Amino acid sequence: MSITRTFIDFFLDRDHVPTTGSTLIPRLGDPVLFTTSGMHPLTPYLEGEPHPLGRRLTGVQRCLRTTDLDEVGDPTHLTVFEMLGSWSLGDYGSSQTLTWGYELLTSGYGIDPGQLYVTVFGGDDSDGVPLDQESLRTWQELGVPVELTTDDNWWSNGPTGPCGPDSEIFVWTGDGEPEGTPTTDDRWVEVWNHVMMRYRRLDDGSLEPLQQQNIDTGLGLERLTMLLEGASSVYETSLFEPWLRIVPKLWPLDERSQRIVVDHLRSSIVIIGDGVHPSNTGRGYVLRRLIRRALTLLWRHDDSRSVADLPIELFEHTLNHFHQGETVTMVRRILIDEEIRFSNLLDRGRKVLSHERFHKSLDETDYEYLHETHGLPRELVDSLR
Ligand code: SER
Repeated sequence: MSITRTFIDFFLDRDHVPTTGSTLIPRLGDPVLFTTSGMHPLTPYLEGEPHPLGRRLTGVQRCLRTTDLDEVGDPTHLTVFEMLGSWSLGDYGSSQTLTWGYELLTSGYGIDPGQLYVTVFGGDDSDGVPLDQESLRTWQELGVPVELTTDDNWWSNGPTGPCGPDSEIFVWTGDGEPEGTPTTDDRWVEVWNHVMMRYRRLDDGSLEPLQQQNIDTGLGLERLTMLLEGASSVYETSLFEPWLRIVPKLWPLDERSQRIVVDHLRSSIVIIGDGVHPSNTGRGYVLRRLIRRALTLLWRHDDSRSVADLPIELFEHTLNHFHQGETVTMVRRILIDEEIRFSNLLDRGRKVLSHERFHKSLDETDYEYLHETHGLPRELVDSLR
């Protein structure tokens, strides 16, 4: 049975109702550009609005995080990824969710309990939130080692809104014995976060209790797949099979660049599949940056490389996996048009920068002029010099 199916069935057996995951585009009026976590579409219900499907939910949600962009290329970070989630909207509490978490990871997925380590919120005087005793006690009863932290065990989806202490479950991925705890030995990989969503952060930075005590959990599908398949990175898992089979042969690159190219192009297809077009602002700008970063890496060694060479199979596989309705032809066209635009911009940039005036270190006035008169952003100017 697939990892996703096992997760959903586990929670269906415990009276959860499946939700249909949303797209990467948050609902109207939401201040953030993209859905960044599984709970995001559930915000009004965590804040107390009754959910039409009840108080126990489960589902899979695609997410996009640009906060991790610099880490993409390592074995575990992705721009677009999927989260398996379970939620209690004012129903059960921390002891229940952590016990189920332990049960699913060990009995359901067969992870050796000796390979687990967890972190728990140790309390924060400045916010007046105490150590999460219930979570600590639950893990102690289950016999799992616990590390207490403050900042690493507080989860919020933004500067304001629902938030709370969390407990993160880590699995050991190293060859030998651990040399430390999850915060000191990064071979402990975080797979599942259980948030006790009990507070709301207000505009003035203060906290108030939510009218109901919620649970919001998110399990990274790609990371869990990596662990269960014994793969050395998320890219080497079955989820990326066509990408890793095709791209290294098509465009030989060093491993890190390879991963970034795969991540950025795959993410771009998903973003376009959710209806976004490249542009100079907002979501379109995030998409534009991803495409341009991928092309910059590809062209570093060979500027004849083109997204037009990407086999249709990769588009089909990605759009099908994320259940997206956009056609391959349309998504491919948008990527190719953006490549042409970028290539023209680079040509123009090289021409302008060859002018004597720019044969020196550039000051703010130069950057401003290049941006406003020639449409050349600072990042691009720097990369051309
Ligand atoms: N919202 C939490 C996270 O994204 C748990 O789902 O980590």
